[in-house]
Amino acid sequence: MQDHLTIVKHPLVQHKLTLMRQRDTSTAVFRQLLREISQLLAYEVTHELPMTTRPIETPLQKMDAPVLAGRKLALISILRAGNGLLDGMLELIPSARVGFVGLFRDEKTLKPVKYYFKVPDMLGERLSIVVDPMLATGNSSAAAVEMIKQEGARDIRFLCLLAAPEGVERMKEAHPDVPIVTAALDDRLNDKGYILPGLGDAGDRMFGTK
Ligand code: URA
Repeated sequence: MQDHLTIVKHPLVQHKLTLMRQRDTSTAVFRQLLREISQLLAYEVTHELPMTTRPIETPLQKMDAPVLAGRKLALISILRAGNGLLDGMLELIPSARVGFVGLFRDEKTLKPVKYYFKVPDMLGERLSIVVDPMLATGNSSAAAVEMIKQEGARDIRFLCLLAAPEGVERMKEAHPDVPIVTAALDDRLNDKGYILPGLGDAGDRMFGTK
């Protein structure tokens, strides 16, 4: 994957995202759409996974058939909203290992504060996909990527639903080696660090909190 930012323009992704943005979309529907869209985004973010072949037998003959190469990949969820992307992705990649980075945003400084960190071993030998639906200021995302780099991760991608230009810039500056895959690049952040036009607080919308 070469481009730093990939926007997945597939019509199904764009249609589902519009439904998710709408204020009156219920929690249940939002969650279902997130599950569906996460699979479509996962398809995009994994499309260049290394492959090898394995000898198999079909009912008719032997063949060398393509299979994924290397260690199981690692999905790293930035709590709590990242978990909304996990279920759908794990349906597509059931053997993936899963890690969690707990960061909350200090509402005054907008800087990330760590409260939880648990990730799979041997990150240096896996593709790590860091997931968070909203790439807003980019502070949490950049901090999470830095933490997994310190655990040895080298091959890293970042997957989100919506990105703000500010977040993309921040990530590009901090981690130019980490490609970003998103469904949309929105206009800007408001003074509270929310993405505009956005979809509101992704965690609140998927978990039904306020
Ligand atoms: N986090 C959210 O949930 N929404 C935003 O718009 C920005 C950060």
